[in-house]
Amino acid sequence: MRREFLEVPNSFSSLEGFNCHTSQGLRLAQTHFRMAHICVTVAQFIAKKTGLGKRHAKAVLGRGEVCLNQTAITDGSQELGKFDQLTVSGEILQSHVPRYLLIHKPAGILSATSDPTHRTVIDLIREPWARDLHLAGRLDRSTTGLVILTNDSVFSESLMRPGNRIPKTYHVETDDIITAEAIEAFRKGMFFAKEKISTQEAIVIPLSETSCRLTIYEGKHHQIKRMFLRFGIRVTKLHRDSIGPYVLPEDLAPGHYRIIDPHIPESCV
Ligand code: URA
Repeated sequence: MRREFLEVPNSFSSLEGFNCHTSQGLRLAQTHFRMAHICVTVAQFIAKKTGLGKRHAKAVLGRGEVCLNQTAITDGSQELGKFDQLTVSGEILQSHVPRYLLIHKPAGILSATSDPTHRTVIDLIREPWARDLHLAGRLDRSTTGLVILTNDSVFSESLMRPGNRIPKTYHVETDDIITAEAIEAFRKGMFFAKEKISTQEAIVIPLSETSCRLTIYEGKHHQIKRMFLRFGIRVTKLHRDSIGPYVLPEDLAPGHYRIIDPHIPESCV
């Protein structure tokens, strides 16, 4: 039987009761958004992670070479928590450290963890644990601005679920006038036939005839560009300033990143 190293929400009940516009609201939402692990035992994890199978896992456990959170264990049947530290013969198989980073994505860099031809945001992170990270929401290759990286899938999931209504704010520049008709249609929500969904309301604050601040509450593929294209308007520049309470620091240059404590959005660890 194939066991997945997966997590799934144990409840799909909406978090719309939480005000995710404030850091306190977001924290509350995160606290209430519980994820259930599909159970992975210590022995299964060792077998899979080392690639040496169950027999090897049993052997290292039997020899007392396995430590769970710095305590030697011989019973591999217990569940391994996401941030439990697990070592075999002193080698770390799973680290117990949750990581959270804000990165200023430059244009031309892919929002991906790996790619055979293009540089990705992970390539910009000079930390030994960079490859453990995943993205809490992507940007197009040409889009600049805030991307959040983490190894905590509960956290990233809570930021990305449309039902959680986490606002994402962008600076948009266009090749044509942003009409009142477009602004009104964005506010009402638009139907995307490809995904068969209607977008949640998007809030536009005009800055000039051809630029605005735009807030959306989900992140469909090319969402903003597609919204404008409905009105024959092309987005010429797109830059993300914030995701919920996490704001791109003004002094964070393109290509640079900052490790944060997610409970203190403005922090720098
Ligand atoms: N919408 C887009 O069209 N592109 C992005 O990168 C983000 C949102």
